[in-house]
Amino acid sequence: MPARYDLIGQQYSTGRKSDPRIEALIHAQLKQATSVLNVGAGTGSYEPVSLSGVSVEPSTIMIRQRASDRFPVVQGQAEYLPFPNQSFDVVMGVMTMHHWSDVTQGLRELKRVARSTVVLMTHDPSHDGFWLDQYLPDRRLLDQHEMPSIQSITKILGTSEVLPVPIPFDCHDGFYGAYWRRPQAYLDPNVRRNISLFARLRDTEGAMSRLSNDLSTGLWHQQFGHLEKFTFLDLGYCLLICRLA
Ligand SMILES: C[S@@+](CC[C@H](N)C(=O)[O-])C[C@H]1O[C@@H](n2cnc3c(N)ncnc32)[C@H](O)[C@@H]1O
Repeated sequence: MPARYDLIGQQYSTGRKSDPRIEALIHAQLKQATSVLNVGAGTGSYEPVSLSGVSVEPSTIMIRQRASDRFPVVQGQAEYLPFPNQSFDVVMGVMTMHHWSDVTQGLRELKRVARSTVVLMTHDPSHDGFWLDQYLPDRRLLDQHEMPSIQSITKILGTSEVLPVPIPFDCHDGFYGAYWRRPQAYLDPNVRRNISLFARLRDTEGAMSRLSNDLSTGLWHQQFGHLEKFTFLDLGYCLLICRLA
């Protein structure tokens, strides 16, 4: 079976890039690191390329889009990391766990190959309050099924710190919550192509017609126009930091 991102990731590097504000939060956790493993690395966003590192990524299509300054990549999966115990100072993973076939095994592997820290950026599936969920009510159900809960992750990793990742209004990385202040963007199929949730949900076209209609009648602005005064919003994205040593 082809990796999911071999099917949906063809244009990933055009719409999904490191956002500098999110990158600063991730890199702040890597300051003492001498070596880094980036799991589910995709095209290499958020890699601290000034450090020595390696990436693991299953999708050939994603690997082909990696720029030459990114870490060298091994084609593989979180669940079977081809490295001895404690090979890397820090192991990181950004927005990848919900795609793994076995999150428990994957997290155990991350912990096994890390010496000091595991840093994961994820989304809390129980978060609600993002206006787009009102158009896509199945998002929460799907995420609760596919996206591991924060409690289940910390149970496997052990004591972890959870830091919120507020999303800037002009976020450069086009994930689900990135366009919270740019609703028109979700109507663009090229934007939706780089958000895996749209491939995982059914009847998103109907939802997008409703959004389009609410934008043209002004209903969206009536309900959510107050968001324009914010520059960052908490949409349930967070960093989980597990210190092993
Ligand atoms: C949303 S992308 C995130 C990519 C990158 N970390 C980023 O922030 O742009 C999810 C990535 O997880 C990868 N992935 C899927 N299943 C995986 C697995 N079992 N182990 C490791 N990575 C996996 C996908 O191929 C994809 O590149």
